[in-house]
Amino acid sequence: KVRSPDAGTLLDWYDRHRRRLPWRAGPGQKPNPYRVWLSEIMLQQTTVAAVGPYFLRFVEQWPTVEALAAAPQDDVLRDWAGLGYYARARNLHACAKTVAEDLGGRFPDTEEGLRALPGIGAYTAGAIAAIAFDQQAAAVDGNVERVVARLFAIDTPMPAAKTEIRARTADLVPADRPGDFAQAVMDLGATICTPKRPVCALCPWNEECLAHAGGIAESLPVKAPK
Ligand code: ADE
Repeated sequence: KVRSPDAGTLLDWYDRHRRRLPWRAGPGQKPNPYRVWLSEIMLQQTTVAAVGPYFLRFVEQWPTVEALAAAPQDDVLRDWAGLGYYARARNLHACAKTVAEDLGGRFPDTEEGLRALPGIGAYTAGAIAAIAFDQQAAAVDGNVERVVARLFAIDTPMPAAKTEIRARTADLVPADRPGDFAQAVMDLGATICTPKRPVCALCPWNEECLAHAGGIAESLPVKAPK
Protein backbone atom coordinates (compact mmCIF):
# COMPACT_ATOMS: atom_id res chain seq x y z
CA LYS A 1 0.00 0.00 0.00
CA VAL A 2 1.38 3.36 -1.00
CA ARG A 3 0.47 6.62 0.74
CA SER A 4 0.74 9.97 -0.95
CA PRO A 5 3.95 11.80 -0.10
CA ASP A 6 3.78 14.81 2.13
CA ALA A 7 6.21 17.58 2.96
CA GLY A 8 6.04 16.99 6.72
CA THR A 9 7.62 13.53 6.42
CA LEU A 10 10.54 14.99 4.50
CA LEU A 11 10.91 17.99 6.83
CA ASP A 12 11.13 15.66 9.87
CA TRP A 13 13.97 13.84 8.11
CA TYR A 14 15.64 17.15 7.22
CA ASP A 15 15.54 18.27 10.84
CA ARG A 16 17.58 15.19 11.76
CA HIS A 17 19.83 14.80 8.71
CA ARG A 18 20.33 18.18 7.08
CA ARG A 19 23.78 18.80 5.68
CA ARG A 20 25.74 21.62 7.29
CA LEU A 21 26.70 23.81 4.39
CA PRO A 22 28.49 27.16 4.72
CA TRP A 23 25.65 29.16 3.13
CA ARG A 24 22.87 27.65 5.21
CA ALA A 25 21.44 29.49 8.17
CA GLY A 26 21.53 27.38 11.32
CA PRO A 27 18.27 26.09 12.80
CA GLY A 28 16.21 29.09 13.94
CA GLN A 29 18.47 31.60 12.17
CA LYS A 30 17.20 33.91 9.47
CA PRO A 31 18.64 33.30 6.00
CA ASN A 32 20.74 36.08 4.46
CA PRO A 33 19.49 36.76 0.89
CA TYR A 34 22.96 37.84 -0.31
CA ARG A 35 24.52 34.58 0.87
CA VAL A 36 21.65 32.51 -0.53
CA TRP A 37 21.92 34.24 -3.91
CA LEU A 38 25.73 33.92 -4.04
CA SER A 39 25.62 30.21 -3.19
CA GLU A 40 22.90 29.45 -5.73
CA ILE A 41 24.85 31.18 -8.53
CA MET A 42 28.01 29.27 -7.58
CA LEU A 43 26.08 25.97 -7.39
CA GLN A 44 24.55 26.35 -10.87
CA GLN A 45 27.20 24.22 -12.58
CA THR A 46 29.51 23.26 -9.74
CA THR A 47 29.31 20.68 -6.97
CA VAL A 48 28.62 21.45 -3.31
CA ALA A 49 32.12 20.23 -2.33
CA ALA A 50 33.86 22.46 -4.87
CA VAL A 51 31.81 25.55 -4.04
CA GLY A 52 32.52 25.60 -0.28
CA PRO A 53 35.96 27.29 -0.27
CA TYR A 54 34.96 29.76 -3.00
CA PHE A 55 31.86 30.75 -1.13
CA LEU A 56 33.80 31.36 2.09
CA ARG A 57 36.47 33.42 0.30
CA PHE A 58 33.83 35.58 -1.38
CA VAL A 59 31.83 36.36 1.74
CA GLU A 60 34.96 37.08 3.74
CA GLN A 61 36.21 39.51 1.10
CA TRP A 62 32.81 40.96 0.17
CA PRO A 63 30.41 40.46 3.09
CA THR A 64 27.53 42.40 1.54
CA VAL A 65 26.02 42.92 -1.89
CA GLU A 66 27.19 46.56 -1.73
CA ALA A 67 30.79 45.43 -1.14
CA LEU A 68 30.66 43.02 -4.07
CA ALA A 69 29.09 45.66 -6.32
CA ALA A 70 31.90 48.10 -5.47
CA ALA A 71 34.66 45.58 -6.21
CA PRO A 72 36.63 45.93 -9.46
CA GLN A 73 35.36 43.37 -11.97
CA ASP A 74 38.89 41.98 -12.38
CA ASP A 75 39.06 41.14 -8.67
CA VAL A 76 35.77 39.26 -8.88
CA LEU A 77 36.88 37.33 -11.98
CA ARG A 78 40.22 36.51 -10.35
CA ASP A 79 38.54 35.01 -7.30
CA TRP A 80 36.03 33.17 -9.47
CA ALA A 81 38.82 31.41 -11.44
CA GLY A 82 38.35 27.68 -11.05
CA LEU A 83 34.57 27.77 -10.85
CA GLY A 84 34.39 28.00 -14.63
CA TYR A 85 32.00 29.77 -17.01
CA TYR A 86 33.14 33.37 -16.74
CA ALA A 87 29.77 34.59 -18.00
CA ARG A 88 28.42 33.52 -14.60
CA ALA A 89 30.95 35.73 -12.82
CA ARG A 90 30.17 38.70 -15.05
CA ASN A 91 26.45 38.23 -14.48
CA LEU A 92 27.12 37.89 -10.75
CA HIS A 93 28.84 41.25 -10.69
CA ALA A 94 26.17 42.89 -12.87
CA CYS A 95 23.46 41.52 -10.58
CA ALA A 96 25.25 42.83 -7.47
CA LYS A 97 25.45 46.29 -9.07
CA THR A 98 21.76 46.29 -9.97
CA VAL A 99 20.72 45.26 -6.47
CA ALA A 100 23.12 47.67 -4.75
CA GLU A 101 22.61 50.66 -7.04
CA ASP A 102 19.01 50.35 -8.27
CA LEU A 103 17.23 48.35 -5.56
CA GLY A 104 18.63 49.89 -2.40
CA GLY A 105 20.68 46.79 -1.59
CA ARG A 106 17.61 44.57 -1.26
CA PHE A 107 17.05 41.51 -3.39
CA PRO A 108 13.50 41.16 -4.81
CA ASP A 109 11.46 38.71 -2.72
CA THR A 110 9.40 37.16 -5.53
CA GLU A 111 10.31 34.70 -8.28
CA GLU A 112 9.22 37.21 -10.91
CA GLY A 113 11.35 40.02 -9.47
CA LEU A 114 14.35 37.74 -9.09
CA ARG A 115 14.08 36.42 -12.66
CA ALA A 116 14.48 39.93 -14.01
CA LEU A 117 18.06 40.05 -12.64
CA PRO A 118 21.20 39.03 -14.60
CA GLY A 119 22.15 35.37 -14.20
CA ILE A 120 18.93 34.32 -12.47
CA GLY A 121 16.78 31.76 -14.32
CA ALA A 122 13.72 29.78 -13.29
CA TYR A 123 15.55 27.37 -11.00
CA THR A 124 17.61 29.99 -9.20
CA ALA A 125 14.63 32.35 -8.80
CA GLY A 126 12.60 29.57 -7.18
CA ALA A 127 15.46 28.57 -4.91
CA ILE A 128 16.13 32.11 -3.67
CA ALA A 129 12.43 32.95 -3.27
CA ALA A 130 11.90 29.83 -1.16
CA ILE A 131 15.16 29.73 0.83
CA ALA A 132 15.73 33.44 1.44
CA PHE A 133 12.14 34.73 1.55
CA ASP A 134 9.98 31.75 2.53
CA GLN A 135 7.87 32.07 -0.60
CA GLN A 136 5.91 28.96 -1.56
CA ALA A 137 8.13 28.43 -4.61
CA ALA A 138 9.60 25.29 -6.14
CA ALA A 139 13.27 24.94 -7.13
CA VAL A 140 13.55 22.14 -9.68
CA ASP A 141 17.04 21.13 -10.76
CA GLY A 142 18.32 17.76 -11.99
CA ASN A 143 18.41 16.30 -8.48
CA VAL A 144 14.87 17.34 -7.74
CA GLU A 145 13.72 16.00 -11.11
CA ARG A 146 15.14 12.60 -10.22
CA VAL A 147 13.49 12.50 -6.77
CA VAL A 148 10.09 13.53 -8.09
CA ALA A 149 10.21 11.29 -11.20
CA ARG A 150 10.80 8.35 -8.85
CA LEU A 151 8.28 9.37 -6.23
CA PHE A 152 5.48 9.37 -8.83
CA ALA A 153 7.05 6.76 -11.17
CA ILE A 154 7.01 9.21 -14.07
CA ASP A 155 8.40 7.18 -16.98
CA THR A 156 7.99 9.74 -19.75
CA PRO A 157 11.48 10.30 -21.19
CA MET A 158 13.31 13.52 -20.35
CA PRO A 159 13.03 16.31 -21.24
CA ALA A 160 9.32 15.77 -22.05
CA ALA A 161 8.71 14.75 -18.42
CA LYS A 162 9.81 18.16 -17.13
CA THR A 163 6.35 19.74 -17.31
CA GLU A 164 4.74 17.00 -15.24
CA ILE A 165 7.65 16.94 -12.79
CA ARG A 166 7.42 20.71 -12.28
CA ALA A 167 3.68 20.47 -11.59
CA ARG A 168 4.13 17.55 -9.17
CA THR A 169 6.90 19.38 -7.33
CA ALA A 170 4.84 22.57 -7.05
CA ASP A 171 1.98 20.53 -5.53
CA LEU A 172 4.31 19.20 -2.84
CA VAL A 173 5.69 22.56 -1.67
CA PRO A 174 4.23 23.38 1.76
CA ALA A 175 3.05 26.83 2.84
CA ASP A 176 5.02 26.34 6.05
CA ARG A 177 8.84 26.08 5.67
CA PRO A 178 9.05 26.12 1.85
CA GLY A 179 12.75 27.04 2.01
CA ASP A 180 13.61 24.09 4.23
CA PHE A 181 11.52 21.91 1.94
CA ALA A 182 13.52 23.02 -1.13
CA GLN A 183 16.78 22.26 0.63
CA ALA A 184 15.45 18.96 2.00
CA VAL A 185 14.67 17.71 -1.51
CA MET A 186 18.17 18.77 -2.61
CA ASP A 187 19.73 16.87 0.30
CA LEU A 188 17.58 13.81 -0.38
CA GLY A 189 18.69 13.80 -4.03
CA ALA A 190 22.35 14.26 -3.10
CA THR A 191 22.59 11.70 -0.30
CA ILE A 192 19.80 9.08 -0.63
CA CYS A 193 17.98 9.31 -3.95
CA THR A 194 21.23 9.20 -5.93
CA PRO A 195 21.40 8.49 -9.69
CA LYS A 196 22.97 5.04 -9.16
CA ARG A 197 22.19 2.71 -6.26
CA PRO A 198 19.71 4.91 -4.37
CA VAL A 199 19.60 4.01 -0.69
CA CYS A 200 15.84 3.49 -0.51
CA ALA A 201 16.05 1.72 2.87
CA LEU A 202 17.02 5.05 4.47
CA CYS A 203 14.60 7.24 2.52
CA PRO A 204 11.92 9.08 4.51
CA TRP A 205 9.59 8.75 1.51
CA ASN A 206 10.18 5.06 0.80
CA GLU A 207 6.64 4.05 1.77
CA GLU A 208 5.23 6.69 -0.56
CA CYS A 209 7.57 6.17 -3.51
CA LEU A 210 5.92 4.52 -6.52
CA ALA A 211 9.25 3.72 -8.18
CA HIS A 212 10.45 1.96 -5.03
CA ALA A 213 7.18 0.02 -4.81
CA GLY A 214 7.66 -1.11 -8.41
CA GLY A 215 11.38 -1.86 -8.02
CA ILE A 216 12.27 0.62 -10.75
CA ALA A 217 13.86 3.51 -8.83
CA GLU A 218 17.27 3.11 -10.45
CA SER A 219 15.79 3.22 -13.97
CA LEU A 220 14.14 6.62 -13.45
CA PRO A 221 14.09 9.27 -14.78
CA VAL A 222 14.15 7.83 -18.30
CA LYS A 223 16.87 9.45 -20.41
CA ALA A 224 16.05 11.15 -23.69
CA PRO A 225 16.05 8.75 -26.64
CA LYS A 226 19.10 9.28 -28.87
N1 ADE B 1 22.32 22.77 -4.91
C1 ADE B 1 21.81 23.92 -5.35
N2 ADE B 1 21.43 24.70 -4.32
C2 ADE B 1 21.71 24.02 -3.19
C3 ADE B 1 21.55 24.26 -1.81
N3 ADE B 1 21.03 25.41 -1.39
N4 ADE B 1 21.94 23.32 -0.94
C4 ADE B 1 22.46 22.17 -1.40
N5 ADE B 1 22.64 21.87 -2.66
C5 ADE B 1 22.27 22.78 -3.56
